[in-house]
Amino acid sequence: MNSARNCQGGKQLPLKSRITGTGSYAPERVLTNFDLERKVDTSDEWITGRTGIKERRIAKDTEATSDLCLEASKNAMKAADVTSAEIDLIIVATMSGDMPMPSTASLLQKKLGAKNAGAFDVNAACSGFLYGLSVADNFVRGGSAKKVLLVGAEVMSKFIDWHDRTTCVLFGDGAGAVVLEPARGQHGILSTHLYSDGNMWDYICLPGGGSLNPPSAKTVKEKMHFVKMKGNETFKVAVRTLERLVIDTLKKNKVKPSELAMLIPHQANLRIIQATAERLKLPMSKVAVNLDRYGNTSSASIPIALDEVVRAGRIKKNDYILLEAFGAGLTWASALIKW
Ligand code: ACO
Repeated sequence: MNSARNCQGGKQLPLKSRITGTGSYAPERVLTNFDLERKVDTSDEWITGRTGIKERRIAKDTEATSDLCLEASKNAMKAADVTSAEIDLIIVATMSGDMPMPSTASLLQKKLGAKNAGAFDVNAACSGFLYGLSVADNFVRGGSAKKVLLVGAEVMSKFIDWHDRTTCVLFGDGAGAVVLEPARGQHGILSTHLYSDGNMWDYICLPGGGSLNPPSAKTVKEKMHFVKMKGNETFKVAVRTLERLVIDTLKKNKVKPSELAMLIPHQANLRIIQATAERLKLPMSKVAVNLDRYGNTSSASIPIALDEVVRAGRIKKNDYILLEAFGAGLTWASALIKW
């Protein structure tokens, strides 16, 4: 490392973590709103008007979450110019892992041949990627990891009741990955913020298959292995909470909304995204939106959107990037990055 670059006024610059590569992957199969019109009592007009979603990607029967992770990871590691052997920690944020045990991160570790890496999963539903980012950032800043692979990945389509129009139109499958490495100086992750309120756990849940309701003929008959959501109640809490969250995150970093180059929100609902952007007085040209093409991919939505804006050249060095998410738990989280 260049010591002159790492010092300012004789003092060593603080250690941060920096995203050095991004990647993403979405299954090939596209399911449009018009396809859904033929499955349930819904319409393209309702789905587009209420959510902004036009189509979503659906994994093959044989494709599991770790398969999506692998493709996104390969792309991120190539962009970061990092080999599997150099990765010392793998974190997968998911609520739809391959199986309850082992972790999807362990299965990804095998697929990558990342023989020097520890591996574990993080589950904070749609806030999962930002929870994982906070964990990864702390590992790097604390000096105990040097090259972290963080993936947000979901195969939501296998946990959806395709006869329930209130949920089946919302979700999609995909994966996004980043590589984080240490950096001294002003660039990197400036702060991460994690919150939860378990009192509203039943607003979004998948109640079957765990120790409370272990899998049985009864849990299957009662469709407890599918996502349930109180959509309208969740919507109201999400709008209120995210408006406060983004303002607080900027204040804590003494950054004005007008200084923001890009907002990368979780992609659940275009109306929620627009309300957050309006609170920041941010034009939609500075907001990453891809839910029209992918739907809500839960913990994959932010890293997919990040990868898209990076590859499209929409982020430049020194830009302030704000990431925010809201999901089951309830959980919500944010991160501010100086690129
Ligand atoms: N097609 C047609 N009509 C529908 C559909 C559908 N797919 N789904 C519901 N409706 C009907 C309802 O039955 C209801 O009819 P009624 O008025 O006759 O009772 C009407 O449409 C309105 O339903 P609402 O649920 O009130 O609609 P709303 O405007 O709230 O939109 C939505 C629903 C899109 C789910 C919205 O509430 C939302 O986005 N919520 C937040 C989701 C979110 O942020 N989740 C967090 C992340 S998810 C995670 O963590 C896994």
